[in-house]
Amino acid sequence: SSAAFRIQERTLIAVKPDGVQRRLVGDIIKRFEQRGFKLVGMKMLQAPEGVLADHYHDLRQKSFYPALIRYMSSGPLVAMVWEGYNVVGTSRAMVGETNSAEAKPGTIRGDFSIHMSRNVIHASDSVEVAQKEISLWFCSSELVDWDSNFYQV
Ligand code: PPS
Repeated sequence: SSAAFRIQERTLIAVKPDGVQRRLVGDIIKRFEQRGFKLVGMKMLQAPEGVLADHYHDLRQKSFYPALIRYMSSGPLVAMVWEGYNVVGTSRAMVGETNSAEAKPGTIRGDFSIHMSRNVIHASDSVEVAQKEISLWFCSSELVDWDSNFYQV
């Protein structure tokens, strides 16, 4: 395959506390696996306030910021790093519009969410942001570089 195909992109996906509470973790992982992406990191955690403050730093002046931080710290979330060709852009398409009311049926938000304040999932919105978010949520020893073809006979 071409060099462009082999350069593997990564993105940060988080199933937000409402997604965990509603038992959507399995369905969400299934969609990313089925699409053909490779899971290289995953953990469940109660997001530390400091990590959320960094993660949503650009939104700190928004009126909804306090509610957003309360929501994101209201319960455990599942943070994941997925890898593959164009994973940042394709993930955003799979997730659907930020405003759940506009998210198309078939997308994660379009299937599971009606309102932006409980929109189930986060996905990095650019390759640059993805790199920042991955290093914020994961240390390098938590990312696994496994061989996808090892068990192919
Ligand atoms: S903005 O205003 O364009 O900068 O915001 P946007 O990029 O669309 O959204 C950034 C994240 O903020 C969340 N958001 C909200 N949460 C709670 N309530 C309200 N009203 C609200 N508006 C936006 C939105 O879900 C995005 O979260 P992430 O985790 O990035 O998906």
